[in-house]
Amino acid sequence: MTNAQTPTVTLIRGDGIGPEIADATLRALEAAGATLRWDEQIAGMEAVSRIRDPLPAETIASIEKTRVALKGPLATPKGEGFRSVNVALRQHFDLFANVRPVATWQGVPCRYKDVDIILVRENTEDIYAGIEHYVGPGRSAAESIAIITKYGSERIVRHAFELARREGRKTVTLVHKANILKYSNGLFLDVGKHVAAEYPDIAFNDMIVDATAMKLVLAPEKFDVIVTMNLFGDILSDLCAGLIGGLGLAPGANLGANAALFEAVHGTAPDIAGQGIANPSALMLAAAMMLDHLRMGESAKRLRGAIARAVADDRTRTRDLGGKADTKGFTDAVCEYAKG
Ligand code: NAI
Repeated sequence: MTNAQTPTVTLIRGDGIGPEIADATLRALEAAGATLRWDEQIAGMEAVSRIRDPLPAETIASIEKTRVALKGPLATPKGEGFRSVNVALRQHFDLFANVRPVATWQGVPCRYKDVDIILVRENTEDIYAGIEHYVGPGRSAAESIAIITKYGSERIVRHAFELARREGRKTVTLVHKANILKYSNGLFLDVGKHVAAEYPDIAFNDMIVDATAMKLVLAPEKFDVIVTMNLFGDILSDLCAGLIGGLGLAPGANLGANAALFEAVHGTAPDIAGQGIANPSALMLAAAMMLDHLRMGESAKRLRGAIARAVADDRTRTRDLGGKADTKGFTDAVCEYAKG
């Protein structure tokens, strides 16, 4: 790759364990031979403490220019305080598709074998559309409004089918609660059925969200691609991470027509921040998804292969996954395998 072709990526290290796992990921990317230029920006608590703005205009401008970002987790205050920067970024750049793959890893202790699920979550609508207010005197009630549009439903279900086709997947399961939420979820289901009819090569079924949660726990190997709305996708993707041993191995891509943002599914892990024991795998795997997006598939393969070897051995696996290594020990192993 010549210098002129070297992609520039916006880097947001993030809060809590963010800087630790971002440093580890940059080392692993270099070891895997991925040549990238970084435009480092700030957001979240770090940006609040430095310039009192959780999402600075410079950060937005950088992503507008590079169209690709790698982001560590960002803290969001509960209840009061600023709105989630993660949600704001997804809405600003219309990153409508949140793709969260999970698969069992050889050697990592977990309850299941053969899990291999790609969860595709609609990322801009639903109850996360940001329409919330108190009702009545003295904050005696509150309401949050879920927005589901035909346009938003169609593009996310189509995204799931296109992904299924590209990845050689066999079945798409649409998850909803249309038995109770007959209008909003009913619309999502109706649109989904119409889109599914355009993909006769891929099997389609729909499932109510509560039953899905139970079936995922009972027989996760029966699921292939799941497509769902924002809130259910948020919850079920953590459940899916639990199926493969925890959040430490769960990456995510936030994709839109004009930008893509790659991150770990997990948060800032404030309970372990600064201790040097965080597992950087999820951000590394998100970086591998980013390399695929940038058509740097060879480096992505090397990085994934190196992570697989490092997590398979309990001497180099991190403690959250039952191993003995700290962040540095794990990252050293990944870098060595990626170079070799
Ligand atoms: P969390 O994911 O940060 O932590 C949950 C548990 O998993 C904790 O015990 C933590 O130590 C552990 N954990 C998470 N990632 C780990 C890693 N890489 N290695 C080892 N252990 C790990 O969830 P929590 O505590 O609910 O959220 C903390 C903050 O993160 C909140 O402010 C929340 O809003 C934010 N958050 C940000 C996200 C993002 O930026 N995409 C996503 C989820 C939460």
